[in-house]
Amino acid sequence: MTFPLHGCRAIITGASSGLGAEFARQLAPQAGALLLVARRPEALEAVRAECLALRPQLWIEICAADLAETAGRETLRAQVAGGDWNLLVNNAGMGDYGPVVTADPAKLRLMIDLNITAPVLLVNSLLPSLARPAAILNVSSLAGEMPLPEAACYAASKAFVTRFSEALRIELAGQGVTVSCLCPGPTPTGFSRTARRPGGGDTDRSGQGLLRQLPEHVVAVGLNALVTDRACVYPGLGVGLAARLFRHLPRVVLRRLLQRRLERGKMTATPES
Ligand SMILES: NC(=O)c1ccc[n+]([C@@H]2O[C@H](COP(=O)([O-])OP(=O)(O)OC[C@H]3O[C@@H](n4cnc5c(N)ncnc54)[C@H](OP(=O)(O)O)[C@@H]3O)[C@@H](O)[C@H]2O)c1
Repeated sequence: MTFPLHGCRAIITGASSGLGAEFARQLAPQAGALLLVARRPEALEAVRAECLALRPQLWIEICAADLAETAGRETLRAQVAGGDWNLLVNNAGMGDYGPVVTADPAKLRLMIDLNITAPVLLVNSLLPSLARPAAILNVSSLAGEMPLPEAACYAASKAFVTRFSEALRIELAGQGVTVSCLCPGPTPTGFSRTARRPGGGDTDRSGQGLLRQLPEHVVAVGLNALVTDRACVYPGLGVGLAARLFRHLPRVVLRRLLQRRLERGKMTATPES
């Protein structure tokens, strides 16, 4: 079922930065209302001001909540109740660069709670109160298509999001709910800043030039997936081809390539990188 964006009432998680803020900016000219969700109220206010500059009469609510916590999700549920909202963009997410064994366990826990628990429980608690026709856009990642050493937990969490999204779409078929999944490749946002560990390095970016897309393009592709009723979209030709390659390469070959990438990264790493 295609979902019309014109007049939609959209809840956007992770709306204070990066892709979430861009979802707000692209929806502002056409939406009926926006509900912007993240932890930092001042950053949400700044995005609200940008959206109001685009369309001064737009109704925009803010919900400052930590979606990794039960209390934060409950705050959002209470604000959504009875509000006639009909689009949920499950976008808030985070990464962690480095080996699992040296990770801060609190950061690993936060990532799992934000990337996996939050979208599942938000669908569970918010979907019954969404007006019909409704839509859910889950923001996953190209990383979900492969086992990714030094981003192991992040990539696995996004594999979860992609599979969850596709199964949800089948469950909800014929019930007036469109479900789509957006799988971006590398995109310049605040993501890497959060994913880096204190004193730790960046991820190996070799070959990423072919995959990199701007947030404007990534978000436009995601919103178009709802309008055209696509199950899963990969913004950019390179990202689409890479996803197919990772899916169809024999696992033994993929493992060898990833092993080599890891070893090359170790050889080129400097203490400051
Ligand atoms: N950038 C990329 O290369 C890339 C590639 C593929 C997929 N993605 C996915 O795209 C999505 C958006 O990320 P981004 O790239 O736009 O990164 P970003 O700029 O770091 O934005 C992350 C957003 O999530 C919010 N957030 C973080 N922790 C939260 C929490 N506990 N509760 C509520 N909100 C929280 C942040 O706001 P506060 O700090 O104010 O809470 C922020 O608005 C993520 O799901 C990410 O996995 C990104």
